[in-house]
Amino acid sequence: LEVAGEIDAKFSQLFHGFSKLSLTERFEKLRQFGELSQDEVDYLKQGGIDSAELAETFIENTLGYFQIPLGLATHFVIDEKPRLIPMAVEETSIIAAASKTAKWIRESGSIRTEALGREIIGQIQIAKVRDMNALENFVKERGAEMVNLANRDVASGLVRRGGGVTKLSLRRLPRPDGGEMGVIHVYADPCDAMGANIINQVCEALRDPIERATGEKIAMCILSNLADHKLVRAVVHLRGVGKEAAERIAEASLFAWCDPYRAATSNKGVMNGIDAVLVATGNDWRAVEAGVHAYAARDGQYRSITCWTAQDEDLVGEMTLPIVVGTVGGVTSLHPTARIAIKLLGIETSEDLARIAAAVGLVQNLGALRALTTVGIIEGHMKLHIRNLVVSAGATGPEKELLEDQLEKILATTKRISLQHAVNALHNLRARDISQ
Ligand code: MEV
Repeated sequence: LEVAGEIDAKFSQLFHGFSKLSLTERFEKLRQFGELSQDEVDYLKQGGIDSAELAETFIENTLGYFQIPLGLATHFVIDEKPRLIPMAVEETSIIAAASKTAKWIRESGSIRTEALGREIIGQIQIAKVRDMNALENFVKERGAEMVNLANRDVASGLVRRGGGVTKLSLRRLPRPDGGEMGVIHVYADPCDAMGANIINQVCEALRDPIERATGEKIAMCILSNLADHKLVRAVVHLRGVGKEAAERIAEASLFAWCDPYRAATSNKGVMNGIDAVLVATGNDWRAVEAGVHAYAARDGQYRSITCWTAQDEDLVGEMTLPIVVGTVGGVTSLHPTARIAIKLLGIETSEDLARIAAAVGLVQNLGALRALTTVGIIEGHMKLHIRNLVVSAGATGPEKELLEDQLEKILATTKRISLQHAVNALHNLRARDISQ
């Protein structure tokens, strides 16, 4: 308990006033608190990777890097552990909203997460099954033999680490032409890897033995991103929110549950948080996006992935979704910025990362719903967006601060702000300068 208290005190100090610091002060604080080494600070300060050589090992026809900003969300306490959340994202106000909402929860609530299942899925398609009963019997009776074969020939490394291929099952899908398609699902625990490569190899290695044993023709093999056997659940409990505020958020949540048009936007907001963590840690965010959206439509209608309910004065939010990530192998291990992100997160396993990503997604959703059901999204968004407009309008040096002040005034009176406002205000500023 004493250790936990010390950790809490350390992070309270680290979080305190973080958003008000300059870039240099931020680095200095993270270094002082032992979160970044001097080498890591130097590397980040000079803009990250400065040679295209590493990129050559990731992709083809390399030209260089497309850099997006990396920031740190603060105030997160997940499963009672304070966490620094590195987020790589280009959209204004996502990190501010995540930090602000996490602070609210930290002060009067909790974020809890759990992992439900560990298996990813590979698919082996038999487009036109000749004998479905025989195929069913094969999977039932010789499935274990196939599992052993795959574990021996392809997944022995995973088996050594406590994972590996676990089972086979058969799905029967009706075809539009009246026939039946057979899909063999191969389940595997990829340990701390994302597992795409290994599950694809396993499926391809089983192709010949299955064809030989069944006489069926296999059309294709590939992993499924609908990883519904590797789910993560996050729950946010906020105490004393007040009946009215809690009900407003519950109504917003119901809106997104009932209406796919709203669900798409609400889920986009969730993915704002999740993707930013995935990008920062070098993970395949397209895979997670695809899986989450497919899972959100699992009952036949596309729905919100989160659910918020009012419980007297309290607000409770829940979200269950597939998040398959890796902390070993691929870009995560090779990209120096991803390695720094993993260090900042202080995680040990890929399960930790999936649980943290889920927590960030749910918190991000709460931040959006809170704004949407009170002041609206424009206020927080546009205040930060002003900084963007100032640069887009072409302000330089001391003009920047003057223009920011002007735009804030315009926003306060007109409740809206555009690039045209910024261009006009800059024009006026310069005209005033010349006339003085
Ligand atoms: C914007 O990036 C995300 C939101 O539209 C999410 C939402 O509407 O819930 C604010």
